[in-house]
Parts: sequence; C-alpha cells; structure tokens
Amino acid sequence: MTNKKITIKDAESNKEIDLPILESVLGPNVVDIKSLEKNLGLLSHDPGFLATSSCESKITFIDGNEGKLWYRGYPIEELAEKSNFTETAYLLLKNKLPNINDLELFSNDISNSYDVDSSIKDMINVFSKDSHPMAIMIACLSFLAAKHHKEINIQNEKYRYESTINLIASVPVISAWILNHILSNNFQKPNKSLSIAENFINMSFPELNEEQKNHSSKAMDIIFLLHADHEQNASTSTVRLSGSSETSPYAAIAAGITTLWGPTHGGANEAVINMLEEIKNSERDVEHYVEQAKDKENPFRLMGFGHRIYKNYDPRAKIIQKIAHEYLNKLDDNNPNKPLFDIAMKLEKHALEDDYFVSRKLYPNVDFYSGIVLKAIGIPQSMYTVIFALARTVGWVAHWNEMIEDKNFRIGRPRQLYTGKNKTSYKDIKDR
Ligand code: CMC
Repeated sequence: MTNKKITIKDAESNKEIDLPILESVLGPNVVDIKSLEKNLGLLSHDPGFLATSSCESKITFIDGNEGKLWYRGYPIEELAEKSNFTETAYLLLKNKLPNINDLELFSNDISNSYDVDSSIKDMINVFSKDSHPMAIMIACLSFLAAKHHKEINIQNEKYRYESTINLIASVPVISAWILNHILSNNFQKPNKSLSIAENFINMSFPELNEEQKNHSSKAMDIIFLLHADHEQNASTSTVRLSGSSETSPYAAIAAGITTLWGPTHGGANEAVINMLEEIKNSERDVEHYVEQAKDKENPFRLMGFGHRIYKNYDPRAKIIQKIAHEYLNKLDDNNPNKPLFDIAMKLEKHALEDDYFVSRKLYPNVDFYSGIVLKAIGIPQSMYTVIFALARTVGWVAHWNEMIEDKNFRIGRPRQLYTGKNKTSYKDIKDR
C-alpha cells in the first residue's frame, strides 16, 4: 500500500472521493475501487475483465510488450534451460527453488500418487473411442471429486497439500490412459521410478525404444514446463472463481479444464495442425493462404500467429521453436509428416519476412511450434489440449492454494450492469 491515490468526481452530485492506488512490484499499479459503491453508488464496468485486476498474486509475471514470462521471478528461458517440470512445479507451489532433499521428497510424493484408482479405467472405457479426450478428462476429474468428497477441508494445509499432489500426479496418468483408450491400446501401468514426463511417454508409447522414449520425454518435459502457468487467463480465473465457493479442488480443476477446452484458449495448437492439413490437402499453395490471411475482406487467419498478450515474441515460442527445428531437421524424406512440416516452415518464413506480419508483430506463437512438436512425438491432435491441461494443472493448483491462503479470501461474486426490463406485471397466459 502506498499513499498514492486517484480522486474521482461525480459531475452530477459534485461529490469527490479518493481511491487508493495499490502498488505492484512490476506491471501497472491498480486502483482499489471497493469504496466506489458505498460512497458514490457506482460500480466499475469492464466486460471481459480487460482492465481489471481480479486478485493479488505472487506466482507469475507477464510483460507482453517486452515478451517476458517469469514464474516466481525466474525467467521462463532460464527455467527451460536449467530446470525441469517437477522442480518448476515445486517452485510455482512453494515460491522457492527446492534443495536436493526437498525435491526428492516432492518427487516421491508425486510418484507415490501415480496409483490412481484403477476403476477409473472402466469409466474411460465407457466412452466411445472418437469422444473428445477433453470431455473424458472432465468426467475423470468428476470421478476423483466423487472419490475424495468426504475429505474436503480446504482450510487444512495438509489436505491442501495432499489434494495438490494427488492432482499433479493423477492428471498425467489419466491423460495417458485416455490416450491408450482412443488409440485402442491396452491401459498401461504407471512406473514410480519415472518423472511425470517420462512416465507419460512410457505409458503413452510403450512400443518405443529407450532412446526414443528419452528423446520424447525431454521434449514433453519442456512443453509441460512452458505451459505450467500463465497468470490470470480464462481457465485459471475459472479455477479461482469456482474454488472460491469452497468446492472440492478436483471439481474446481474440472471447471478449469472445461474452460481450457475452447478453441480460443487451449485449442489453438490443434487448430494449427488442422490448418496445415487443410493446406496440404488443398490444390492451392502456401502463398495463397498467406494472401488470404492478409486480405481484410477475408476472415481467414493463420493459426499459430499473433498473440493477445505478447505484442513482441512469445518467449515460450522461442524456446520451443528450437525443439521443433531439431525434430524437423532430423526427419527423413519418407516421413509421412514431412509435407506437413515443410508447409509449417514456409509459413514461418513468411511470418518472419513478410511486411504484413513483421509490421504487426505477428510472430509464430507457442501453439504453432507445440503443435508441430506434439505431432512429431506422435500425439493425436485431439489430445493436444489434454496435454495443455495436464501441464496447467500445476498452475491451477498453485493459484487455488494462493487464493485460499489469502487473508482476504471470500467467495467471488462479480456484479453487473442491468439492462433488462424494469418492473413488469405478470399477465395470465390467456391475455398475452
Ligand atoms: N493472421 C493474419 N492476420 C492476423 C492474425 C493472424 N493470425 N492475427 C492478427 N492479425 C492481424 C489482424 O487482422 C489485425 O490487422 P489490422 O491491424 O490490419 O486490422 C492485426 O493483426 C492485429 O490483430 P488483433 O486482432 O488486434 O490482435 P488480437 O490481439 O486481438 O488477436 C489473436 C490475437 C491471438 C486472437 C490473433 O492473433 C489470432 O487470431 N491468431 C490466430 C489464432 C491463434 O494462434 N491463437 C493462439 C494464441 S496463443 C494462446 C495462448 O497463449 O494460450
């Protein structure tokens, strides 16, 4: 809290009030408008929350203009280079890097929770194999909420830790089972000696040799790390709002998964591959699609280009671009994905050289490259958002914990600008 304030005056009543300005460590300060209604009878109006800070948070900092993404103060580039998903999960949850013992305990707690109730597999089996995996995932979270509903005690730190670990460990195992199911493979057993990413790859692709598994696990670990948190986006805000009613954390995460599913949130990397497939199967060349994207009369946009927040390079895209290029450089000419990836590289070249994209800072975003890497690993497109949900579960539970530990924690209750009818008398149905 500072002594800074903003004074606003209601021109009609001539009444003036001071609103305190709360100082952020980085990024814009915020105006505390809580007294607005009491003193002036007014509310603030900001549909889509584009100019509203919904909470105080110490977890993630983003500066879209500068292309910065920091978890607990650590730049994402440094974490991607030196850390791993499990250690980063610890950092996001505990606000510090673990020492050797802390990390060992934390990793053991996670792998000891890989033993997900196996009857969940019977439930997964009920879904047809062409069901969307996100829908199956939501049902699985409901299964966990049902199984654990008697334990709910969100004010209890031990309960919060146990449910946090259980979610971080179970969601990847369940994701692999969903993948086994849609590929018509046998359900694979989790292996406690493996990290989250290694175990996910081991369960998803048991047929790979050790070298292939290691290679895919490393790429997967970085994808998980890059997607672990992204501040107060739609799904994280959903988890916070849902969790604020003191519901089960499993139910709150199910709400987050539901929100993430949408194509304007988590579904973009799936859209990238769909677009590449469309270009590949069409008679037209890449240039035609680029021209179409530039045409203001045409609603077509290049999927995987541009970002709402990053008006500079998305720092995650830079990191995953390297991995995508590594994969693509190793492909031999007979690889069935080669034509698709050649199209991707042509599009990337346009975006980096064509004045339309350069002048608007429409760089390839994280979804452009993660779509390519996931395709190269062999993950079916419909599973991409599940992978995102798996990684983001860490961020969601970090925000859920932070919210409950906040001394000002109370149920979220947005207000509204009512524009409906004024008081109207009921007419009997015969008289309408
Ligand atoms: N292809 C062609 N033109 C584009 C594109 C695109 N992908 N994106 C933006 N533009 C143009 C847009 O037409 C506008 O041109 P002008 O200034 O001449 O009117 C200019 O660039 C600015 O666009 P905007 O619509 O104001 O940008 P925005 O911040 O509202 O939209 C976006 C951001 C991500 C919705 C948009 O870039 C887009 O639709 N991209 C494709 C979909 C995509 O890849 N989404 C994933 C984003 S990352 C998700 C995540 O991090 O979770």
